[in-house]
Amino acid sequence: MCGIVGIIGEKGVAPDIIDALRRLEYRGYDSAGIATIENGHLERRRAEGKLRNLESRLLSEPLQGRTGIGHTRWATHGRPIERNAHPHMNGRVSVVHNGIIENFRELKAALEPKGYVFESDTDTEAIVHVITEELDQGATLEQAVKNALSRLHGAFALAIIFAGHDELMFAARQGSPLAIGHGTGEMYLGSDAIALAPFTNAITYLEDGDWAVLRRDGMQIYDRAGARVERPLVKSGASSLLVDKGNHRHFMAKEIYEQPEVISDTLANYIDMTTGTVNFPDLGIDLAKVPWVTLSACGTAYYAGLVAKYWIERYACVPVEIDIASEMRYREPPLGSGGISVFVSQSGETADTLATLRHAKAEGERVVSIVNVRTSTIARESDALLPTLAGPEIGVASTKAFTCQLAVLACLAIALGKARGVITAEAERDLVQALIEVPRHMSTILGNEKQFKAIAHDLSKARDVLYLGRGTSYPLALEGALKLKEISYIHAEGYAAGELKHGPIALIDENVPVIVVAPQDDLFDKTVSNLQEVAARGGQVILVSDAAPEKVGCKLAAHIALPVVSSFTNPLICAVPVQLLAYHTAVVMGTDVDQPRNLAKSVTVE
Ligand code: F6R
Repeated sequence: MCGIVGIIGEKGVAPDIIDALRRLEYRGYDSAGIATIENGHLERRRAEGKLRNLESRLLSEPLQGRTGIGHTRWATHGRPIERNAHPHMNGRVSVVHNGIIENFRELKAALEPKGYVFESDTDTEAIVHVITEELDQGATLEQAVKNALSRLHGAFALAIIFAGHDELMFAARQGSPLAIGHGTGEMYLGSDAIALAPFTNAITYLEDGDWAVLRRDGMQIYDRAGARVERPLVKSGASSLLVDKGNHRHFMAKEIYEQPEVISDTLANYIDMTTGTVNFPDLGIDLAKVPWVTLSACGTAYYAGLVAKYWIERYACVPVEIDIASEMRYREPPLGSGGISVFVSQSGETADTLATLRHAKAEGERVVSIVNVRTSTIARESDALLPTLAGPEIGVASTKAFTCQLAVLACLAIALGKARGVITAEAERDLVQALIEVPRHMSTILGNEKQFKAIAHDLSKARDVLYLGRGTSYPLALEGALKLKEISYIHAEGYAAGELKHGPIALIDENVPVIVVAPQDDLFDKTVSNLQEVAARGGQVILVSDAAPEKVGCKLAAHIALPVVSSFTNPLICAVPVQLLAYHTAVVMGTDVDQPRNLAKSVTVE
């Protein structure tokens, strides 16, 4: 995943930029580059592969500038070759970028006829030209950056420098993290505090929508609207390659907020952003001929699989058998005859999932795993690995790993549908576009944290909570209930909304909050009928939906507004509010959010 560094220093900054980039190597990358201001001019060096290649380049062609930006690139748009490596620049501006610019095709199409020449296949280069166009129209540097940011759609972190403006750097954050480091007579910028640990531990984290102007003696931060804002200065504990909590009180919060970035990273592994198509690795089996898919996992990972059942059956017309691993391993269902078995696991060490995988293998199935820890046993024992790029997940309650699992499973559904001729090229582009927009929509929800805190106060007083959902929102109801009970210790159950009247409706009274996950998909009206049944019995309905509250025709205790997205990606979007509700409730209850009682992160016993 891309790493960003920027330094305004007192001496030549290239060696320190390399040092900081080395500390970002753990994120994974395939090329690297650096640009500095040399006597007023922008100069850059880039190299494919490891940082040592960039270092040898710098040995033969050194850079002396005292202001510079650096980047480790993890390819999203365009192959990992030098031409696509960052920084991207023209004579006036140089940019490094982490994230995805969703509307780069539109921007490029508008800029090229005006004479702006693109030299790479990247989305990032559009930023260079958008800023330049603003300058050409007479904007000041600050105005150009601010205006350009308002023209970019997507999730991104940026560092920007300008020719002729030594000791000046701009930073911007929308979805992807960015930390400003305060030195003595020097300023730093990094994707995380770890990158800056050798220079400073005085850190200011930018918040979503923030952009900042850095000078050698300080900085100013502005919000999206251009108003000056203050962000706290924190002491980072990052002295080694330790994952820290950033600005957050808990790892779980940090991991929830990282989702726009890690979803971008994960999607970039399976999607060709340039063509808007799924670019799936060879699983060693002809996807066109796969007769069925078997899915198995535990806990939250199982719920990701359950969403995938709906997706694969709907978009690829392949039947899916799914079971929790602890049941499937002893049920020992007959498998084989050309099917694929997919195992989903964050840790890759879950004993039941591993045992089920071994059963599937013994039955002659093609074993594919979706795993976050690539060196894990499940990853190693699989015929094919589809990694999630969530990064280390420290909070015991799974959050970002879950949504990354959904991202991979969504791509698998498209790949299967495409191979079988069920999805047309146009439908594929629409589905892929919907996925590409997920990080931005997640950022929108994350930017509205206040409403979750208010509802959490009410939830914290409940003894029991019900979650309801239909279709792909049913697994989200299960996940919401699991998240709430594991970290707040409040009893919660998830039900398929249509199942309500077959039993659980007996639980409803005015003391039971009922959280209804109901995006406006083709099942919305059905779910609303169930919601009305709850309201008629005095239940406290909390609606999670992109529909206006008036649409449900009854009194709601609360409404969590979702952005309007494709029904395909609703599960990814709905994951964020159910995570935030659980998180804030646990905070109100004062529980040990990151290490809830009795739970382990890696369940290596059955
Ligand atoms: C819930 C949670 C667990 C895990 C389950 C499987 O928040 O984290 O339910 O999802 O223990 O673990 P992995 O994904 O490591 O196989």
